[in-house]
This record gives sequence, structure tokens and C-alpha cells, in this order.
Amino acid sequence: MAGVLSSVPRYGSSYVLIVPTRLAEKIPGPNATEVANLEVGVRSGTDAGDAARAIGITHIRTYPLDGSPLQPLKDVADGKLDAAVIWAPLAGLGILELALDQGQVALFTIDKPHAAPPSLRAARVTDPCAGAILDALNVSGVLPAELLVSVDIRTFIGTPAPHFDLEQARAGAPIYEEFCSRCHGPAAVADPKGLAPVDLRISIQRFTYAGFKYIVLNGRPSRSMPPLRGTVSEEQIPLIYQFLKARSQELLPGPAKESQ
Ligand code: HEC
Repeated sequence: MAGVLSSVPRYGSSYVLIVPTRLAEKIPGPNATEVANLEVGVRSGTDAGDAARAIGITHIRTYPLDGSPLQPLKDVADGKLDAAVIWAPLAGLGILELALDQGQVALFTIDKPHAAPPSLRAARVTDPCAGAILDALNVSGVLPAELLVSVDIRTFIGTPAPHFDLEQARAGAPIYEEFCSRCHGPAAVADPKGLAPVDLRISIQRFTYAGFKYIVLNGRPSRSMPPLRGTVSEEQIPLIYQFLKARSQELLPGPAKESQ
């Protein structure tokens, strides 16, 4: 993924201050006076140092640019450093790579969008995967880039569709409501004026389960269906599927409050 990010020169974003949760509890915000007492890691040759100084941080530990881009974050995780200031997309990547996504750290956005740091800048987009990300960014604005690397459909092709189960369909209704209804409408009916003019009651009959899952995970970014990998969990997808199956057979109404 670092290689892909490096090929996306227009992926501009801000710097974030990352602190372990135990310290975050004592810090009301990035401009709080407590922040000035932290020892903060930044990589030399990036704008991170300036971003840190701009919020009053004076105790700065500098990391060489040619070392691991995630070293400051790793030191925060290992308790060797109070905090780090990192370019936001890299911070997101690092949090995933170092498995810190279970609430171990807190992030504060501390400034405006920036271009990628020089170490991650590349002159031209040659990698097809990065090109696809760039297209999606141009179409949909900033999206977490890692969501746009396709899930390999071969890993679940042939997975049988879950057996229809009305209880599971009922459990799927609020999940559908939460993640899909704002575009597909509360009752999954095609709405020519809606954001997604497809009738999911019909789509669900047409797609194999693998195809359905693939679209939910990867979206169709060029046509405004966002990738929902990381948003919708592996356990929720079959329940949404069950709900749509039930809708397609009119076994369940749309969510009550909006169904009429
Ligand atoms: C931000 C809006 C948005 C959200 C949220 C969204 N979709 Fe979509 N979806 C779309 C659009 C727009 C299309 C039509 C894309 C196209 O024309 O190919 C679409 C297409 C689809 C298709 C393909 C339909 C077909 O017949 O080609 C499926 C399946 C689908 N969405 C399922 C879901 C599910 C399930 C959820 C919730 C987990 C969801 N979508 C959330 C916008 C959205």
C-alpha cells in the first residue's frame, strides 16, 4: 500500500497528532496547553515539524527520512515516545499495519491539506492500481485509499448464498437502514430521483452471492457506489443480503417509519 500511495501525487491531506489513548484522556484538543509538554516524533524533511511547532510543540524528536515511515508511530505504540505528527494517509496506513485500530491511539487533525511528503511523491502514475485510486479520487473526492484496492473475488466465488431466513432478514433491516438506505432508499426500491436509481429487489435476484458481496466490498466507484469494505463487516453482509431477499419477495416491508 505504501507503494500505491506513493504513486498518487494528488492525494493531499493534513497532518495528524497521534497520542496513545492513555494520554488522549488528559488532552481536550490539539491546541490544549498539555500538548506543549509532549515529546513528539516527526520525520525530517517533511512538513510534520512545522505542523507540530504551529500547535506549540517544542520538544521534537526527529527521525531520518530514509528510515521506516512508521517508526515514530511504532515508538508511540511501544511507549518510547509521547506522540507523533504524521501525514494523515500514512497515519491511517500505519494504524492498520501496526494493528492499533482497536482504540489504542487517538488522532487530532492539526492543520490543512498538504501534498504527499517528498518521500512518498512520484512523478507519474504508472501503477494501474494507483491509477484506479486516482480515478476514484477524481470522481468521488478523498476516499480512504486502502478501500479501493479490490477485494479478490476469487477468494469467495462459489460461496453459496446463505439459506433464506426471515429472522436474519429482520436482523438485516437496521443494517441496511444504516449503511445503504441513504442512497438506495428505505425500502430498496428504485427511485429515479434518488442517489442510486437501481432496484435492489431486482438486483438481488440477478446477482450471485459472491457478486453481491463483491459489489458491497468494492463498490463501483466510477458510478458512485462507494466501496464499503471496512464500513460494513463480514458478518453484516449476509444479513443485508437476507433483508434484500425478503424485500424482493415482499416478505418484509421497508423500515416502518418510511415505508409508506
Ligand atoms: C453513497 C451512495 C450509496 C451507498 C451508501 C450504497 N450504494 Fe449501492 N449503489 C449506489 C449507486 C449510485 C449504484 C449504481 C451504480 C451503477 O449504476 O452501477 C449502486 C449500485 C449497487 C448495486 C448494484 C445494483 C445493480 O443492479 O447493478 C448493489 C448490489 C448495491 N449498490 C448494494 C448496496 C448495498 C447492499 C449497500 C449498503 C451496504 C449500498 N449499496 C450502499 C450508491 C450507493
